[in-house]
Amino acid sequence: MGALGLETVIGVIGAGTMGAGIAHVAAASGHRVVVYDQDDGVAVRAIEGIGVRLVRSVERGRIDEESAQATKKNLVAAESLDDLAPCGLVIEAIVESLDIKRIVLGGIEKIVNADAILATNTSSLSVTAIAAELERPERCVGMHFFNPAPVMRLVEIVHGAVTDPDVASSVFETAEAWGKTAVHTQSSPGFIVNRVARPYYGEALRLLSEGAADVATLDAVYTECGAWRMGPFTLLDLIGLDVNLDVSKSVYARTFYDPRFAPSYVQQSLVDAGHLGRKSGRGFYEYGPDTVEPDPTTAPDHGLDKEVVVHGDPGAMGALVDRWSMRGISVTHVAGDGLISVGDIQLRLTDGRSATRLVDEGIAPPNTAVMDWVHDWNTTSRACIAAASTCSRSSLGTLVGALQAAGFRVTVIEDSPGLVVARTLATLASVAGDTVLHGIASVDAIDTAMRLGTNYPSGPLQWAARVGYGRVVAVLDHLVEAYGEERYRASLWLQRAAQGERLAGKVST
Ligand code: NAI
Repeated sequence: MGALGLETVIGVIGAGTMGAGIAHVAAASGHRVVVYDQDDGVAVRAIEGIGVRLVRSVERGRIDEESAQATKKNLVAAESLDDLAPCGLVIEAIVESLDIKRIVLGGIEKIVNADAILATNTSSLSVTAIAAELERPERCVGMHFFNPAPVMRLVEIVHGAVTDPDVASSVFETAEAWGKTAVHTQSSPGFIVNRVARPYYGEALRLLSEGAADVATLDAVYTECGAWRMGPFTLLDLIGLDVNLDVSKSVYARTFYDPRFAPSYVQQSLVDAGHLGRKSGRGFYEYGPDTVEPDPTTAPDHGLDKEVVVHGDPGAMGALVDRWSMRGISVTHVAGDGLISVGDIQLRLTDGRSATRLVDEGIAPPNTAVMDWVHDWNTTSRACIAAASTCSRSSLGTLVGALQAAGFRVTVIEDSPGLVVARTLATLASVAGDTVLHGIASVDAIDTAMRLGTNYPSGPLQWAARVGYGRVVAVLDHLVEAYGEERYRASLWLQRAAQGERLAGKVST
């Protein structure tokens, strides 16, 4: 079943933030759109608001006058739900309440034709439950747009337990015809984006509560080492700590308290204090008119005063060696097991064990540091490292100088298992792996959804494949050992992928 033709009239119920955005998208694609809101005048005002945005888009040269006029002409405010009778697709974007959504869709079902599709823009409720009391629940599907709908490319097409696959494929194709990128997902807690993204906040909050570093430093590691567009604390302040906590609590409860999704006390206490983020003037950061943005902690300049020696194949750290070579710094290669030394300090890429644990287990000498993973070794501007408790300050200084000579700003955090990027990527990949394992969404759908819905630099599973599934599983296994918590268990899907990778001989372990 293909996309709905342009002769199909689209109904939008609820003319708030999302309803107005969705109506704009459908009208700009050439459909006649009938907009209804229970509050008098809201639908008319929403259409006027779209008109204002269209004028602005013409002024900025994004669209021409003709298409702005055509879009405006396609929008009609309904006076009652009966005006939606000719609609072939009705999308509801009303208040997030199961009872009210059931009542409204139950009412509209009696007004529209038997073959009209009923879509819900719910962000957290079960599409199966919303559809359950309809006479024809198979025609109900989720169309989860992201805010702002005219700008965000992603639409999650959410299948309820009894959604007709033809209905889902029709709204999928329709969303694509509207210029969006659609992904299929089963109705499950958080669908794809709001489920898979949870560890991004969860691990950052845990690192903060353990005193690994302050918020500005952690944000800088996430954005500069991990290439995430926005650090988790800046993002939480933007979303609203309360709004984000509600999503976390909902996913946690609806997964029957899977420890992977346990919310954070730090966030709860800030919410209790009324520190909700930008909207309240204070969250993890302060937003007063005179507030100075805090700088991340960066190590002071330290010259390179010792020889850099590469022991064996440094793996991903090979790009680090290239950075020294490009800057004319000579590097000596000797046989060994894939580490770098500068003077008397050894540097290893984190495998989920803290530097102190490596020393304690007799794997590494007292002067040892571990380095966090990065998204792209050639472009990253910051290196995040942690030193063993036995490491001397002067040896650490030598290593900092060597990394600075490779063009990095250097951040030294507390010796936390898996540091920042490695543990966050590993936990994201594990939740993503479970999402595939349980048949909720495909690998491609997850990677696409995370890039487009949350601006991740790479999809978590694509990124894990690039790093090596075996390395990702090793980080998780070491986190389980460090914390003794189910939260870090490696998804069976990831374990199988790591086994496949080993069997294919792609990664020598
Ligand atoms: P909103 O509060 O801006 O707008 C809701 C509108 O629905 C209001 O104008 C209200 O008068 C109207 N309404 C409420 N009950 C109604 C009823 N029984 N009949 C007709 N109209 C009714 O809310 P928003 O943010 O647009 O959210 C709407 C839906 O979209 C919710 O289900 C929400 O979870 C979902 N959503 C919200 C996103 C966001 O970032 N705001 C993102 C994705 C989904």
